[in-house]
Amino acid sequence: MRLTPGPPRDVDLATVDLFDLDLYTDGDPHPIWDVMRAQAPLHHQVLPDGREFWSVTRYEDVRRVLSDHREFTSERGTVPTHLGTDDPAAGVLMTSTDPPRHTEVRRPLGSKLTARAVQSWEEKIRGTVVRFLQPAVDGQVFDLAEKALLLPALVTGPLLGIPEKDWEELVQLTAMVTAPSDPHFQIGSEAATLAISHHELLNYVRDWVKNHRVAGEEDESLLHHLMSVRPGGEPLSDEEIALDGYSILLGANVTTPHTVSGTVEALIERPVQWDKAASDLSLVPNLVEEGLRWTSAACNFMRYAAKDVEIGGGTIPAGGAVVAWIGSGNRDESMFPDPHTFDITRAGAKRHGAFGFGTHFCIGAPLARMTLRIFFEELLTRFESLEFAGEAQHLRSYFIAGMTHLPITGKKRQTP
Ligand code: HEM
Repeated sequence: MRLTPGPPRDVDLATVDLFDLDLYTDGDPHPIWDVMRAQAPLHHQVLPDGREFWSVTRYEDVRRVLSDHREFTSERGTVPTHLGTDDPAAGVLMTSTDPPRHTEVRRPLGSKLTARAVQSWEEKIRGTVVRFLQPAVDGQVFDLAEKALLLPALVTGPLLGIPEKDWEELVQLTAMVTAPSDPHFQIGSEAATLAISHHELLNYVRDWVKNHRVAGEEDESLLHHLMSVRPGGEPLSDEEIALDGYSILLGANVTTPHTVSGTVEALIERPVQWDKAASDLSLVPNLVEEGLRWTSAACNFMRYAAKDVEIGGGTIPAGGAVVAWIGSGNRDESMFPDPHTFDITRAGAKRHGAFGFGTHFCIGAPLARMTLRIFFEELLTRFESLEFAGEAQHLRSYFIAGMTHLPITGKKRQTP
């Protein structure tokens, strides 16, 4: 999807298809969302196969849908690729539960992923980022979007306790779960891709837990931590641990790379912003927040109305599916003045909803923020400038906004 929108255009809201994959591959959804926020903040669409969903596009409505579980439940699934089918993980996976069960499932993980807890991994992550960037420093054409797919695995793999030999396969499987229509990842049909990848991923984590239980090995990894915690006095079952591991793999793998690529693209297009950040690295944390807002890698999440709910000037009937378009909310002019301008000094950039809101607020946000901060610190320190070395290609997905290719070259900074 284009992150810098083209000129405003006429949009027929009666016929607009928000699940049109071309819109996100070669198209430009921002002018459509701009019109929706202004004229139809609650929008209803029926797909050709009869499935229907409501959309909210304003920041405040996106926040309400994602954070109020009494009105909008997560228990029937939260990913729009599952619209109208039973999400196999619904009601069990952390992402697909409401409080109080959600609180119980999330608590044991949360303590290991706070900003303070992840701080101890900073130097390890920095080493990983430096090695990751080395081929680009050596002057090779570097396909950032393709390479960055592996970046979260390099960071979270060791934290989870997953051996390096398995990372590539897991990255492929997580990409299949979230972008089952993209030709890079599709096997047969969209439904087959989803079914295969979900099954394989879950089996992988289940086997990991079983084998470690049998071997009785101890280490510092997150999965081992989960094997030892006892929320409410009872240990987690192997199935619960497997589902937590699955959530983390998915959450980490499919988002951070696209924030990296989209933010780098924005900086190459705007050398003044690049120079500003390079001459004052204390701006990097705000650059990261603006990059998160700008890219909105998790383009949306879904909920189901638990009762009739009035929102955006209309009513979503009980049981209706509602898609909260984070990508649109993050460009809401009432919250972010001049929203289609990428500005690393933007005041209030951190109010973005890229990590969601409320009880399901991204549990990996501190780790993602730290990884992104380290990435941009190292990038700006090592390169005087970057250039495009080919066309960007966008992910064929209406759920994850991202890129599959972004070839770049870098001019190495001369050290004094
Ligand atoms: C730029 C990077 C990231 C973005 C944009 C992002 C985005 C999001 C969003 C929007 C949600 C809310 C989902 C909802 O409301 O239903 C979420 C939840 C979640 N994220 Fe992230 N995420 C990122 C990185 C990570 C990382 C690094 C991890 C793992 C370490 C992770 C793991 C999770 C998990 C497990 C949840 C579910 C939390 C819950 O249901 O309570 N994410 N993420």
